[in-house]
Amino acid sequence: MAVIAGNWKMHKNRGEALAYLQEFAPLVAGSDQEIVLCAPFTALAVLSEPLATTGIALGAQNVHWEAAGAYTGEISPPMLTDLGVRYVIIGHSERRQYFGETDERVNLRLKAAQRHGLIPILCVGETEEQRHQGLTEAHILAQLAQGLVGVKVPQVIIAYEPIWAIGSGNTCPPEEANRVIGVIRKEITLLQQATSQATDHVRILYGGSVKPDNIDDLMAMPEVDGVLVGTASLEPQAFARIVNYRVAP
Ligand code: 13P
Repeated sequence: MAVIAGNWKMHKNRGEALAYLQEFAPLVAGSDQEIVLCAPFTALAVLSEPLATTGIALGAQNVHWEAAGAYTGEISPPMLTDLGVRYVIIGHSERRQYFGETDERVNLRLKAAQRHGLIPILCVGETEEQRHQGLTEAHILAQLAQGLVGVKVPQVIIAYEPIWAIGSGNTCPPEEANRVIGVIRKEITLLQQATSQATDHVRILYGGSVKPDNIDDLMAMPEVDGVLVGTASLEPQAFARIVNYRVAP
């Protein structure tokens, strides 16, 4: 079963979210994939009830590490679980780039999410410049090493999202996504062994300009356990085609 997660980013009000769901849910009814919609905070409450009767899970796009307190503008893990949220994106590159997110804070958020029973989707990935300088692996391994301290690794979903591929239409070639995810998997396995954690299979997704016309090739890659989709998840027909991907046997 693959994880097919949509990240709506800062899109859709309540009415738009409900209209989307009305069109999307029948298109993926009967799918056995793990489908997740990561909606903006303001749309979570309205989606929660109608989603409960579908096989689609609700996700958020960030979470604070404290359960409550004087943190103006923040949302805590219990506030999310109260709404039926089951997944949360942590460390998305847009938060790292525009909102000063650090690996230390990513680590706090991951641990807090797990304490409260949320499944974190940890995003890692390199910039175009880092790739050109040959720093892709080193950068990602540093993000993992710092982000995953004290985290139950088997219960994390990781998303490899090369920054140069996000919102650019410039998808990472499937073979290259497969290669980097293989590098991540190797490191994760070492980390699991070093910290005496179960070496269960960790789901690693690809994200960055995933579209209906490249999903089949991406999912054909042996290391790719699913996808995290931005732009194409905003349109029900497109996202449904991604969920209902076809890989030749
Ligand atoms: P796009 O699919 O728009 O490239 O966005 C990817 C992404 O950032 C998902 O988290």
